[in-house]
Amino acid sequence: MSAHFDALFAAATAVRERAYAPYSRYHVGAAIRTGDGRVFAGCNVENAAYPQGQCAEASAIGVMVADGAQRIVEVLVIGGEEGDGMLCSPCGGCRQQLREFAGPETPVHICGPEGLRRTATVAELLPLSFGPDNLGH
Ligand code: THU
Repeated sequence: MSAHFDALFAAATAVRERAYAPYSRYHVGAAIRTGDGRVFAGCNVENAAYPQGQCAEASAIGVMVADGAQRIVEVLVIGGEEGDGMLCSPCGGCRQQLREFAGPETPVHICGPEGLRRTATVAELLPLSFGPDNLGH
């Protein structure tokens, strides 16, 4: 278990309380640790025009970039209910968004309210991915 897990879990749990999800009623929190040790958190923000909703991971990435950080070294996502046995796994779009700022070995901790359910790397979540290096960045 990462030494930073508890801080990420606390940040994601707290921000999840602020999720705006009146349509799905599925509240998600995400926390990102950056290369310089900062933690950024975000929640899902839904919209009456359903496709305009934003995932928690995307919200956290927006906060991170707005604060001037761009290198993700650890991610934690929390969703679901205690004992539901499901993984609140980042959606396809979020996997691509995380990949933009993370390395292939960056761990993504998938959690429920009671704690860790599974950890996967970015490369496991998004194999054969297209990224900034494809464009020479
Ligand atoms: N959601 C996230 O915020 N992150 C994920 O990784 C999976 C899904 C949100 C989107 C929507 O607001 C709600 O969960 C139900 O899909």
